[in-house]
Amino acid sequence: MLLSGSGSNFAAIAAAARDGSLPIEVRAAVSDRPAAYGLERARALGIPAEAVPVRDFPDRAAHDTALAARIDAYAPALVVCAGYMRIFTPAFVARYADRMLNIHPSLLPAYRGLDTHRRALADGARWHGCSVHFVSDELDGGPLVAQAPVPVLPSDTEATLSARVHRAEHRLYPMVIGWFARGRLRCQGGRAALDGVPLSGPVRVEGLYGEV
Ligand code: GAR
Repeated sequence: MLLSGSGSNFAAIAAAARDGSLPIEVRAAVSDRPAAYGLERARALGIPAEAVPVRDFPDRAAHDTALAARIDAYAPALVVCAGYMRIFTPAFVARYADRMLNIHPSLLPAYRGLDTHRRALADGARWHGCSVHFVSDELDGGPLVAQAPVPVLPSDTEATLSARVHRAEHRLYPMVIGWFARGRLRCQGGRAALDGVPLSGPVRVEGLYGEV
């Protein structure tokens, strides 16, 4: 799993793997940031954790090459981006084509990039949420797999909205990874398919955000 920050999605996925609800082995947490709290969470669970610091490499291509070498050392069937906040080179994306997932805190294609909660609030959006997609060359733009809508309340701040979206992420991401692990989800020719049926749009999973 790749992460840059707090690693709450990492923790949710690792917990589901540990309690047996998700039939996967989390092989490692790898970060671009040595100080990422997600690495500490991984170590506490006995999961290998390591950083490939950006500052050790002259450019993005060299960093991605080193990152790929560390990933490949664990021979994962699936690369899971869980709050990994750097843009990949096309060569890196091609290497993990059809076997790299990302979660993004918006109902894509709305609010690609950063500060999604602030932008949704500024727009007066009534619904926000999160999306899981296969990674392509387009930033936050690969084939969509699933989305969890989350209501925006008039009283919301960035913090309260972010917390509600995180609750949905922590349930949506293990669900989608489970589909992949059980052979139900595939990506071929730039299109995601579930149970052999190409998806014409993301699967919408309602009500994952818990109590509002
Ligand atoms: C999550 O909200 C995830 O959707 C977002 O970073 C956060 C990581 O939280 N990812 C992106 O914005 C990728 N474009 P976490 O470290 O607590 O899992």
